[in-house]
Amino acid sequence: MTQYVGKPLSRVDGYDKVTGKAKYAAEFDVPDLLYGYVVNSAITKGKIKRIDTQAALNLPGVVKVFTHENRPKIAWFDMKYKDQDAPPGSPFRPLRDANIVYNAQPIALVVADTFEMARYAASLVEIEYEEDKHETAVETNRHKARKPSVGLTTLFKPGPPKPRGNFEESFSASPVQMTGEYMHSMEHHNPMEMFASTVVYEKGRHKSGGRYTIYDKTQGVTNSILYVSQVFDIPFKDIRVISPYVGGAFGSGLRPQYQLFMAVMAARELKRSVRVTLTRQQMFSLGYRPANVQTVALGASADGKMTALYHGVVSETSQYEDYTEVIANWGAMLYPVENYKLDHKLVHLDVATPMDMRAPGGVTGVSVLECAVDELAFNAGIDPVEFRLMNYTERDQIADLPYSSKELRECFRQGAERFGWVKRKPEPRSMRRGGTLIGWGMATGIWDAFHMPARAEAVLMVNGKLRVSSATADIGTGTYTIMTQIAADTLGMPIEDVLFKLGDSDMPAAPIEGGSWTAATVGTAVKTVCDDLAKKLFKIARKMPNSPFAKATFTDVVFADKAIQLKNDTSVSVSLQAVVDANGGAAVRETSSALPNLFKQRKYARATHSAAFAEVEVDEDFGTVRVTRLVSAIAAGKILNPKTARSQIIGGMVWGISKALEEESVMDHQFGRIMNHNLAEYHVAVNADIQDLDVIFVEENDDIVNPLGVKGVGEIGLVAVPAAIANAVFHATGKRIRTLPITLDKLL
Ligand code: MOS
Repeated sequence: MTQYVGKPLSRVDGYDKVTGKAKYAAEFDVPDLLYGYVVNSAITKGKIKRIDTQAALNLPGVVKVFTHENRPKIAWFDMKYKDQDAPPGSPFRPLRDANIVYNAQPIALVVADTFEMARYAASLVEIEYEEDKHETAVETNRHKARKPSVGLTTLFKPGPPKPRGNFEESFSASPVQMTGEYMHSMEHHNPMEMFASTVVYEKGRHKSGGRYTIYDKTQGVTNSILYVSQVFDIPFKDIRVISPYVGGAFGSGLRPQYQLFMAVMAARELKRSVRVTLTRQQMFSLGYRPANVQTVALGASADGKMTALYHGVVSETSQYEDYTEVIANWGAMLYPVENYKLDHKLVHLDVATPMDMRAPGGVTGVSVLECAVDELAFNAGIDPVEFRLMNYTERDQIADLPYSSKELRECFRQGAERFGWVKRKPEPRSMRRGGTLIGWGMATGIWDAFHMPARAEAVLMVNGKLRVSSATADIGTGTYTIMTQIAADTLGMPIEDVLFKLGDSDMPAAPIEGGSWTAATVGTAVKTVCDDLAKKLFKIARKMPNSPFAKATFTDVVFADKAIQLKNDTSVSVSLQAVVDANGGAAVRETSSALPNLFKQRKYARATHSAAFAEVEVDEDFGTVRVTRLVSAIAAGKILNPKTARSQIIGGMVWGISKALEEESVMDHQFGRIMNHNLAEYHVAVNADIQDLDVIFVEENDDIVNPLGVKGVGEIGLVAVPAAIANAVFHATGKRIRTLPITLDKLL
């Protein structure tokens, strides 16, 4: 019956996006709107001694300046509330007191009748600080690193497991070895759309307060409504959060950001509608991918069997939250090493708390591990693909469970074939094109295949069209499109007659869009609710006067061509429009929950896998690296839409090039401040950096992960790419660059 699932449909939201009809959080027209501009701290640690807002207030159109001295009473300041993606600790609360705990921390909000006036007035707020000594560098503070307070890491996964076997003994006895220390820079998400919240204030239904309709840039309206309700002690029924479109987020929208707090606070106090938008520079005052130092030691037998693995991580976090990623675990998940020891420590610095950023922890750890494995294979004199096949496992070594499916072998085979890997000369510096060195490198990728609980609603409307909704998000990933495909197939309707809606807290709840779990999670909820609606429609059809289904059961019918038909004789049918008419002309609606089948899942490890193959050209005179070819073979279960899925993988590959060669938030540790806080100096890969990208989806059938067999493709596209490029750079030059990004200075 499948008609749309698996087909390369163009985005159903594409037209609205390219014509500007799609509206983002800062674009909704609201009458009588006030604009807030945030003042950020100029120091990194200390106290505000004096804050003088008079000059700002004297300007025409300036309504109010909120500071820690005059801010209203806020419920959150006296209790512990954490958003859905908060790590262990005590979240930062803007304007709570005079303390400064990180540079560019928000310390005041200027509200005026235009954005420009608010911004100018903000520049006139005079602040006197009492400055303390700060520490912001991971490298010089790594001796202070300690175990995270709680064993759980971000995305609800356990931290490094207990050691297995005896690493020290086995490593020192290994005839083939490698050791290395690696450093990765801090990175910021830098989505195109800046964070913004437009809070529409209306007089409340009861005297206690107002009603708030909030257009928010977020990866989860459910997270935002819970946050606003708890933080400000406003009942749910007086809040609605709407976020139909998100201009990229990559994890930065998993936590409510401070513009939401500021906008709601101002709207509630002033009883006016307020918009707070952050500038590009202020986007660097939010969470980020943490800088880290990693140490790896690997041992193998003379014939290339991996025997010993150590992966130790020191990563940064703030003074107030223990942000902990899964960085060290991946090696023991990918390779059947008898003796492993994994370690993860945090160094608490005077910085903002880091945040999940595309493949958080996964790309961080794998980018190092897969360079180390390349080095070990080289030391053993074995081809890197061959070496990985020799050290292949069907079981997750940490959970000690078989994978529900794992077509990584096929990724190696198909990727190598497409790339032409057999023509690789193993010696470094042995391949040239004209005056430039050519390098070919490869790496493995792995990411989780999560499935979370979610709800959805399906309505067969009076006009015979289907409307399905869930309070999920589409951060550019294609959620609108794939959910429309699933709904259309389940009820046998043409895609034009199906409308999928998301991003509204009035809709049935869904988790934040993250972890690559939305296709599996919301997809299953959409499938479930459409199945449930089908049953309801059949019941109505069966009771219709002279129903052809009077003696039929649900298993006797199919849904096709906007009708219910007998399986055995499809000419016997009742149109969906007739069902609505039989329902007294009223819409037929159903709401359902879909939970992961834990009973089925618990006996298996679940993950996506990939293999990336990269070709680089290195100019030895200038130290410049160009990625001329990149092939990614992806095993991620069923691909619902090869077009939108390919776009996800390509986005990840571009990011991988960016991460390997360009991206880095450069901090001046003397000031504790990020110097390149703009898109001119924070380099990301642009069109001119991208040449030949090739994506292969390897067939993978899996009925354990979820009923759809879907594993998610949001993050796996990135994971293997930086290591593949770093390994290609080694192959081209003979140099192991262990600090990302590989900028030209490191190659000269
Ligand atoms: Mo992703 S970093 O879970 O949005």
